[in-house]
Amino acid sequence: MFRVHTPQTDQELESYFQFRWEMLRKPWNYPPGSEKDEYETVSEHRTIIDSKGTVLACGRVHLNTSEEAQIRHIAVHPDQQGKGLGKMIVNALEAVAREQGAVRTVTNSRELSIPFFQSCGYEIEKQAPNELGELKRQQMVKQLQSSSDLMLHADWCEELQNTWYDTIPISEQMGIKLHQYSGKTLETRASLNKNINLHGSMFAGSIFSLATLTGWGMIYLQLRDKSLQGEIVLGDGDIHYHKPITLQPRALCHIESIDAKYEHLKKGKKCRISLRVEILDGDTPVAEFAGVYWVLPPK
Ligand SMILES: CC(C)(COP(=O)(O)OP(=O)(O)OC[C@H]1O[C@@H](n2cnc3c(N)ncnc32)[C@H](O)[C@@H]1OP(=O)(O)O)[C@@H](O)C(=O)NCCC(=O)NCCS
Repeated sequence: MFRVHTPQTDQELESYFQFRWEMLRKPWNYPPGSEKDEYETVSEHRTIIDSKGTVLACGRVHLNTSEEAQIRHIAVHPDQQGKGLGKMIVNALEAVAREQGAVRTVTNSRELSIPFFQSCGYEIEKQAPNELGELKRQQMVKQLQSSSDLMLHADWCEELQNTWYDTIPISEQMGIKLHQYSGKTLETRASLNKNINLHGSMFAGSIFSLATLTGWGMIYLQLRDKSLQGEIVLGDGDIHYHKPITLQPRALCHIESIDAKYEHLKKGKKCRISLRVEILDGDTPVAEFAGVYWVLPPK
């Protein structure tokens, strides 16, 4: 399971900088230490880690002015590229920039990563200063608008949200909303106030509902993506709760966790889909859900 993480302990920060150096400086023979600059202490840092805590991707953002944030040092391990991790980390950094009041983000991209940033919504503005001597860079910019640009296929997402509210009205009472969809990751959020229990934390049944709906929603969007149709039903669900939720309930489903044989559906047969959903309280992982869904072919 991939997770966006904020490195905090000395050990986590050390692994983060080591990863940054290995990915972005070592290949050009720059010494350890060259990966850092004078903005580290005023920046927000994010990594993507696996279930063992290994760093798979990294990135950083800091404010250039009260309106402009700069994204730097984006890297994804070569074995993990092409799985949506780069986009996941850029989304997380843009969310930080928005929270800090920025209305646009800029990045100085190497020639090779220009198509990646274009796919994240950035446009080339001008030639950027050539810091490392060897690598030509372009300054790219993105206007941070409303949260709607967090949604790929905003029309499908709206349709999904309405389907939940129409067919499972309690989902609206629980304040369950789609927050972000990148094509590879779906994030949903729920209102804590509407799901609070007598201990002041989120009711475990609501956490289960948030997880099952997130898995259901991810399948719905994947079927739309593949121009497939069918009725999605939950066959089996298993949840492990580790910690209570007391701040911000979030659920994430990543495409890598899905195991599906969509070709069965194409042949008019039912299709089994297993997936995992991670539940977070803010940035802290608190529960894991493993679900088996069935998609029944249209009658
Ligand atoms: C650039 C980099 C961060 C991309 O990370 P990634 O995890 O492979 O990218 P993702 O899987 O999130 O891809 C997101 C989108 O960008 C596109 N993309 C990524 N690399 C691309 C490339 N080289 N050419 C064209 N498109 C590319 C993907 O197709 C995808 O498009 P989609 O969302 O429409 O499907 C990664 O390749 C990397 O670490 N490169 C080396 C370090 C580097 O150059 N960092 C940038 C510093 S300026």
